[in-house]
Amino acid sequence: MLIFNKQSELKEHLMPFLTSKNLIGFVPTMGALHQGHLSLLEKSLLENEHTVISIFVNPTQFNNPEDLKKYPRTLERDVEKIAKLSKNIIVFAPSVEDIYEGNTVSQHFYYDGLEHQMEGKHRPGHFDGVGTIVKRLFEIVQPTNAYFGEKDFQQLQIVKKLVQKYHIPVNITGCPIHREPNGLAMSSRNERLSETEKKEAAIIYKTLLEAKAKFHQHSIKKISEYVKKKFEKHNLFSLEYFEIADENTLKPSIRKSKGKKYRAFIAVFVNNIRLIDTISLN
Ligand code: PAJ
Repeated sequence: MLIFNKQSELKEHLMPFLTSKNLIGFVPTMGALHQGHLSLLEKSLLENEHTVISIFVNPTQFNNPEDLKKYPRTLERDVEKIAKLSKNIIVFAPSVEDIYEGNTVSQHFYYDGLEHQMEGKHRPGHFDGVGTIVKRLFEIVQPTNAYFGEKDFQQLQIVKKLVQKYHIPVNITGCPIHREPNGLAMSSRNERLSETEKKEAAIIYKTLLEAKAKFHQHSIKKISEYVKKKFEKHNLFSLEYFEIADENTLKPSIRKSKGKKYRAFIAVFVNNIRLIDTISLN
């Protein structure tokens, strides 16, 4: 299996595939790989001649220095998991220096308002960091197809907007959320949860399922109040936000309109660890 730490070496390796117009699939990650990440790789392997995964904890997208410091870094284990899946996957694991060349700052992006909602509101600068790294990685890898999880639904919509605005010739595919048996969405940050916290964190997806079940009969206001009350009673978890939003604009919805697609979005803190999840409502 090939592992590159330098963008110049990866580019050189990929050059012949670009000129021969082979399909290149790309899965950007920050490592601490779990089945959710691996499912994106599996899809890329099926649809492309070559698959590249990047493993890079991108400092510019962390608004909380503590979160960046504690983000799990498990490169050796990640490489083992990738090799088990296929020996043909190309791993790109660059250093911060190689990517940012001494200037670890974000470019500023406008995503037609998508950046002002939910994660954008609560994590200032986060989507500038995401846009900066995703655009840079696309320039390095020049993939035909790139795969992103619906778990970070806002990120997925923002990446679609990014490639549209900058005319980047890559198809973006959204992939379903992989969950633990108790419903908890798989996440690298789950590695920081205790066994009890992991077990109790089932409440997040359970609540989303309840919101979905209530969606047709109850008002959005009523559902939101129900969720808030539910988390007020819980002593391990604190709710940062619960929102029902239009899937395309991500603007919070007050009333339901026919023909629109809605999603519920949730962000919850447990012991300073931030977990997010989402569900389609109709
Ligand atoms: P990371 O959190 O490592 O996620 C990498 C990709 O895996 C993202 O597209 C994410 O949505 C997807 N993913 C995470 N958990 C998933 C799950 N349970 N099921 C399915 N897919 C899942 O997202 C990032 O990294 C970064 O922001 C990145 C795009 C790499 C830019 O730095």
